[in-house]
Amino acid sequence: MNAQPTSASAALPPVHDFLAPVFAQYPLPVVSAEGVWLHTRDGRRVLDLYGGHAVAALGYGHPLWTRALTEQARTLSFQSNAVPLDVRLRAARRLIRFSGLDFNSVFFVNSGAEANENALKMAFTITGRTQVAAIEHSFHGRTAAAGAITWGAAAKWYGFPRTPFDVSFIPRRDADAVVRQIDERTAAVIVEPVQGVGGAFDLGAPFLQALRARCDATGALLIFDEVQCGMGRVGEPFAAVLYGVQPDMITTAKALGAGFPCAALLMSPRVSAALKLEALGTTFGGGPMACAVIEAVIEAIESEQLLERVRSTSALIRSRCLVGPVTAHQGAGLLLGLRTSRPAKQIHAALLERGILAGTSADPLILRLLPPFVLEAAHVELLRAALLDIGA
Ligand SMILES: Cc1ncc(COP(=O)(O)O)c(C=O)c1O
Repeated sequence: MNAQPTSASAALPPVHDFLAPVFAQYPLPVVSAEGVWLHTRDGRRVLDLYGGHAVAALGYGHPLWTRALTEQARTLSFQSNAVPLDVRLRAARRLIRFSGLDFNSVFFVNSGAEANENALKMAFTITGRTQVAAIEHSFHGRTAAAGAITWGAAAKWYGFPRTPFDVSFIPRRDADAVVRQIDERTAAVIVEPVQGVGGAFDLGAPFLQALRARCDATGALLIFDEVQCGMGRVGEPFAAVLYGVQPDMITTAKALGAGFPCAALLMSPRVSAALKLEALGTTFGGGPMACAVIEAVIEAIESEQLLERVRSTSALIRSRCLVGPVTAHQGAGLLLGLRTSRPAKQIHAALLERGILAGTSADPLILRLLPPFVLEAAHVELLRAALLDIGA
């Protein structure tokens, strides 16, 4: 609008202040991106090792992703679950086949938190129980139920007057606590097999197997929140495959749409047997654009052997980037935590000055890397050089 400001509008803050403040923002006014590179308004080119919170799995402008989205936009931009869509059916089949796990039903939704809310709802419905077990340092989202199972949310940002159910938080990798804290009152156990926000913390096969065994013994349902670690990020379709543990449900998002907002709840036959018409619902979930993109993302991962690429690039980062301020590594695949000798925020800022965007986490000494799966060895060398330049 070019109208002259009236005295009332002149008193309003500048236009950018109309946006609700959400996150503290990096000094990085991004205007475009291609491959693994971000371009800023002030003419910088920045290597993206963060991928917009683990989303940009294919980088930017991937031809399969772009074509799927534009062709679907031309063909049919939207219809809800009230009508059958071939593209929705294909996306569900392809996702289940891609998982390689024992699932037979998918509910498409819009965000990670929404997928988790629905997973919990299924667990309460099936078991008739009222309690949930989660893991210390977990992050599951910001809605009422997802916030309730998120470690530290009450003190930080929960905001609702009370949680909708009781939650018991199990210390990480503590198999004894698994037995103590999960019993016949537990409806569900929800766990990120590799914790993201908690610091790229890999919970490991023994702990995840202990959760599976205790759920089997007590009748609780096991939910893997793979919103961040799923869809190839750990070098397998899901972390459940990596650790050889079959959960009753998986929630996933982020890399699922690789930039188009979407999420999914994958259900095992035990869970899907309890599905009733109209118990679940959504307006936008399972829309044709999202489903076309999901198909394209899986096609890209499979046809370009990106799972192998994730594994080899992860190994390369581990071997080449134990330099400068980095003292150790944790995590899995391309959900990597670089332990730093100084606060990770300082290293983050120093990397950004050198044209590399990384991430931080709730662990002040962990720099979190969530790069696109298409990252190349030459990019890893750029990270190594920057870390060496920063120094110990
Ligand atoms: C493991 C995990 N679960 C759930 C969520 C919430 O996802 P969303 O922000 O799409 O609601 C996140 C987001 O970072 C996440 O990392």
